[in-house]
Amino acid sequence: MDMVNLICAKRDGRELSDDEIDWVMNAYVAGTVADEQVASLLMAVFWRGLSDAELSRWTTAIIASGEQLDLSGLSRPTVDKHSTGGVGDKVSLILAPLVAACGAAVPQLSGRGLGHTGGTLDKLDAIPGWRSELSNSEMLAQLEEIGCVICAAGAGLAPADRKLYALRDVTGTVDSIPLIAGSIMSKKIAEGTESLVLDVKVGSGAFMTDRDRAGELARTMVRLGRDHGLKVTAVLSAMDTPLGRSVGNALEVAESVEVLSGRNDSRDLIEITLALAREMLGLAGIEADPAVALRDGSALERYRAMVVAQGGDPDAALAHAPHIEVVTADRSGTVGRLDARAVGVAAWRLGAGRARKEDAVSASAGVECLAKPGDEVAEGQPLLELHTDRFERLDWAREALKDAVDIGDEAPAPTPVVLEVIS
Ligand code: URA
Repeated sequence: MDMVNLICAKRDGRELSDDEIDWVMNAYVAGTVADEQVASLLMAVFWRGLSDAELSRWTTAIIASGEQLDLSGLSRPTVDKHSTGGVGDKVSLILAPLVAACGAAVPQLSGRGLGHTGGTLDKLDAIPGWRSELSNSEMLAQLEEIGCVICAAGAGLAPADRKLYALRDVTGTVDSIPLIAGSIMSKKIAEGTESLVLDVKVGSGAFMTDRDRAGELARTMVRLGRDHGLKVTAVLSAMDTPLGRSVGNALEVAESVEVLSGRNDSRDLIEITLALAREMLGLAGIEADPAVALRDGSALERYRAMVVAQGGDPDAALAHAPHIEVVTADRSGTVGRLDARAVGVAAWRLGAGRARKEDAVSASAGVECLAKPGDEVAEGQPLLELHTDRFERLDWAREALKDAVDIGDEAPAPTPVVLEVIS
């Protein structure tokens, strides 16, 4: 095969054959085609797209570049959830033990945060002793015994995606629906789950700000999963306001434990968690009401067992930031808008997130949202609490929050968190 011909073919809008796609993927992983040639092909895909047949083969080729986990020996049905990422999105910490408490096995291979959206592993890392790296046999044993695991994907899973993603990141080719869909779904299919619920976030704090594009991504991933024998449903959910009240690693762990203990009634967080749980249980063929497992303490018990199994101490004190500053309301009225992206950027600037993959994150940094849209506030009342290890970061975070909050005379119309279910 000739890589230049292949690039020109895609550039000119021709459909690539299965053999051509397999060849490119193998050659790229083996290092026999150059980064610049694959970058050109990615740019051609960015503009020309991939047909359903091409995308299906592209995804198969990424999966074939590494190992595939075999979860078929487990005694419970397996079902996972993937979120495209948002601000304050601590749903996995509550959802995985909740769905496990209802009888499914939840293998959540998760990632770390980049930019203004947080990563599930960074949040759990705030628990003293907790370990994200598990061997395949540890993961399987934990799934059988407890029913849920949240850990890092091993290096053997879809290695072609790791290489492609790094190249996309530096060549302006991340934001392509087929490339995103192939990247996400190859990892989920290789993980070996039978069913998958996708939480595709849309709004200012999400990867996708446009609802039509988010819908197209969701439908593409659902089709792709089905082509590969996976039962998949996608939920489009709103991400204009941070989910729940906390944004930041230890802060989000604390809020998740509050929800699991029935001590926190954040409407949006509980609504999306229960909606995703119902979809997951439906796909797994389990008839159970997740609201009951959340109320009766069984989800909390699974969460604690999961943390202990991964070396963590669920009773250990979480890190507290030495510097806390309050942002107050500049007038009385009703909060109409609390911008998710601005809060995410502020939390990131306070130290909760990273700019580069290799950066460390602070466990204690973040933002507490003391008032949310619909809440009435009085002038001077605290709206946001900024937490950081480093005093000098406060100015920078405050700057991100300049236009983050609108307070008006009218209460905003209540907005649903779940916008659409695509199945
Ligand atoms: N997350 C992924 O895993 N891949 C993408 O391409 C985008 C987000």
